[in-house]
Amino acid sequence: MVKAGLGLTRSVPTVVAGASGGIGQPLSLLLKSSPHVDELALYDVVNTPGVAADLSHISSPATVTGYLPADDGAKKAFKDADIIVIPAGIPRKPGMTRDDLFNINAGIVKGLIEVAAEVAPKAFILVISNPVNSTVPISAEVLKAKNVFNPQRLFGVTTLDIVRAETFVAQLVGEAQPQKLNIPVIGGHSGATIIPLFSKASPSVSIPDDKYDALVNRVQFGGDEVVKAKDGAGSATLSMAYAGFRFAEKVIRAVKGEKGLVEPSYVYLPGVPGGDAIAKQVGTDFFSVPIELGPNGAEKAVNPLEGITDKEKALLEKATAELKGNISKGVDFAHNPP
Ligand code: NAD
Ligand code: LMR
Repeated sequence: MVKAGLGLTRSVPTVVAGASGGIGQPLSLLLKSSPHVDELALYDVVNTPGVAADLSHISSPATVTGYLPADDGAKKAFKDADIIVIPAGIPRKPGMTRDDLFNINAGIVKGLIEVAAEVAPKAFILVISNPVNSTVPISAEVLKAKNVFNPQRLFGVTTLDIVRAETFVAQLVGEAQPQKLNIPVIGGHSGATIIPLFSKASPSVSIPDDKYDALVNRVQFGGDEVVKAKDGAGSATLSMAYAGFRFAEKVIRAVKGEKGLVEPSYVYLPGVPGGDAIAKQVGTDFFSVPIELGPNGAEKAVNPLEGITDKEKALLEKATAELKGNISKGVDFAHNPP
């Protein structure tokens, strides 16, 4: 519970939009299981009454409600929410890029952000829907147009890239506890825009030269590995639910006053304390860097670039070029929807 002055407490209402999907269901399960979650509203265009009824039988504190589009369901689900997590939208099939999802998912995300702007203008919004490199700039433009954009409260969820980096590095160096590794992954969330910084791992790790390129490639294209293995049945859902929960729970704990919580996220850097200098350094405004979380959301952007290796500098250069195109595509869409 948040201490709201005078010793009063309040809950942190949390919404999952896209809650009946491959990510939405296990993510909602993890949120329902968390002792930090007290109110959970599930929104989707299908099946939320059933998912909510099912989850509501779990003996954990959170109340669970389900909403469909009928009778202004989205507005009712989002009303006065503190946290809105968005995994709504279609996933990839083999042979597709994340950008191939743009035409459908851009409109879905835009519509959901419009509702959030209207009924929960102060919510912390966590965007999972792909292509994240573009859906977050779309979200920012929609919020700006409604005069409610607070860059400290809009996050693109890139945690799966960090989770993958931890896992793959642990396998390589023989670490039995991957969760003990902290590996910043910065940039964006697709292929070459994903920049793992193994030189910044803590505790430090030594990656043999002859293994470096393959390891970077596996982190950058881990999503494709899952899409291929699922063979037409979608993309990462369970690992994404784990990653989305890890990030969402950290935001919730930070909002409730816990200190020292840091996780990379794709944000509008010029609007986050410490971010402007990083944006100038990388040459793009939307970019994922480690973010110090607090009651105001993104309290500080941590500059991860000092002392990076020449190989990491080369990754950064390549990433930025691609990222700029993804960002302007999102901004253009928000201003001139088809
Ligand atoms: P899915 O098809 O299994 O689920 C998507 C859900 O969204 C469905 O239940 C659908 O009914 C719902 N939906 C569609 N339109 C909606 C709307 N207007 N309002 C509310 N709900 C709506 O897909 P999934 O596997 O869960 O993936 C969802 C999205 O997450 C995809 O775009 C995927 O690419 C993305 N994703 C992102 C990451 C990441 O790291 N950020 C990782 C994995 C997947
Ligand atoms: C991932 O990284 O697994 C997701 O972005 C889904 C995808 O399309 O690869």
